[in-house]
Amino acid sequence: MSNVHVVNHPLVQHKLTLMRSKTASTNSFRRLLNELSMLMTYEVTRDMPMQDLVVETPLETMTGKVIDGKKLVFVSILRAGNGILDGMLSVVPGARVGHIGLYRDPKTLTAVEYYFKMPPEMHERDAIVVDPMLATGHSAIAAIDRLKECNPKSIKFVCLLTCPEGLAAMEKAHPDVPIYTAAIDRQLNDHGYILPGLGDAGDRIFGTQ
Ligand code: URA
Repeated sequence: MSNVHVVNHPLVQHKLTLMRSKTASTNSFRRLLNELSMLMTYEVTRDMPMQDLVVETPLETMTGKVIDGKKLVFVSILRAGNGILDGMLSVVPGARVGHIGLYRDPKTLTAVEYYFKMPPEMHERDAIVVDPMLATGHSAIAAIDRLKECNPKSIKFVCLLTCPEGLAAMEKAHPDVPIYTAAIDRQLNDHGYILPGLGDAGDRIFGTQ
């Protein structure tokens, strides 16, 4: 799948392995997620358009390059997506933020929407959708279906972990959306969890279990 970018930088892999451990505390899980999110942002923004900016150095005037962070929108799939936002915003502080609230129906594992809020002028923005786990793909697909109704200029998807089932589902539903992940794990279990995975990302970020 040419649209899938596995970020296998040693720093990313190191932090992901520490996060997987069931003995990682909520505190260290969150800190590692924060650091990992910054590194993933570095990769996903690699081809962002730049514009010229004239600056005066202490010695002379020159034309440098800047990104237009205000045109970027990070779209968090609640609630686990919010765990990625802090790290992303610390490296792109001018970005806008949208939220999509979806819950997983425990019987059908399908996504049900309960919240949707985007900044204005979405047609001028590049959207980066974030959710730590691309598992069945139901939430990501539903979120991107909904986001496409706002017509953003482009859409990318960032997660920490995915699996062949999630990638296949995304490839079928949204082949135009590039996926950035730190790893592709083996498989899904019968409850829609990624194996070997890292457990329930939301619970581990917020300490709810
Ligand atoms: N969501 C999670 O938090 N973990 C998984 O393994 C799959 C979906």
